[in-house]
Amino acid sequence: MSQQVPSDSSNSKISLATLQDKKDCSDPIVAVTAYDYPTARVADAAGVDLILVGDSLAMVVLGYENTLPVTMDEMLHHCRAVARGSKRAFMTGDMPFLSYQVDVSEAVRNAGRFLSDAGMDSVKLEGGRRMASTVRAIVEAGIPVMGHIGLTPQAIHQLGGFRVQGRSSNTARALLDDAIALEKAGCFAIVLEAVPGRVATLISEWLNVPTIGIGAGSGCDGQVLVSNDLLGLFDRFTPRFVKKYSNLRVEMLNAFERYRDEVGRRDFPGAEHTFGIPDDEWQTFIDSLEDLRPSGKHS
Ligand code: KIV
Repeated sequence: MSQQVPSDSSNSKISLATLQDKKDCSDPIVAVTAYDYPTARVADAAGVDLILVGDSLAMVVLGYENTLPVTMDEMLHHCRAVARGSKRAFMTGDMPFLSYQVDVSEAVRNAGRFLSDAGMDSVKLEGGRRMASTVRAIVEAGIPVMGHIGLTPQAIHQLGGFRVQGRSSNTARALLDDAIALEKAGCFAIVLEAVPGRVATLISEWLNVPTIGIGAGSGCDGQVLVSNDLLGLFDRFTPRFVKKYSNLRVEMLNAFERYRDEVGRRDFPGAEHTFGIPDDEWQTFIDSLEDLRPSGKHS
């Protein structure tokens, strides 16, 4: 009788095909952002399908006001850390402001660096129809591209702030046209950010590629959240669409305060945190000090 081979499908690397199979499926794509090795390891262990190294790095990790200042080098540095921590999840690196808007060949080269220098499986960029030719060129270079429309934070100055998009019939139609153009250009998935639920559901039903929503209701093919938001680590502001699954800021504050107090009282480190030296070695060491300390402070 042949032996049963245990299925390891839950541990095998998530591929583009796995993500695409989740289109219209009862099992949505679960995505989170991560920016470092420990977070990537935990997200991977939790079984998320996709880790996005978002340019939200600029705000939630590097402390900038918005996402515009983060550079290619900073993004790649954090992508490498995430790639070392994640074994299973599909990984997407977010192309930062001005790394793809200026010139198509520069965009292809920068996109390629996310794969060749930083271990990512794909890239994401913001913008709809006006980015279609850039998306096409990157996809033709063999690099999977995720689109991102709706609230596109790199266009914050054009959008007039972090505002919901697609609330009028015209802007809702523009979003659908953008989504169709990105799909035709070859995007493997499209993020819909801060879009009314009904509009996001219609776009999701219209497209053949999966949509991944953030503030776009439950009708998308997947969901993404910024990990620092869902973990309760980012306290500058919390968008309405965020659900906090933890309050790590409070946990961390509590831990740092207890550490501060214990060090202050000399309760930490205790004997269990302190290394010993054998008595005979100690005595020989002390004896060797005699010539240095004629007054003999130690015995
Ligand atoms: O940068 C980011 O984290 C993102 C997500 C919000 C989709 O683009």
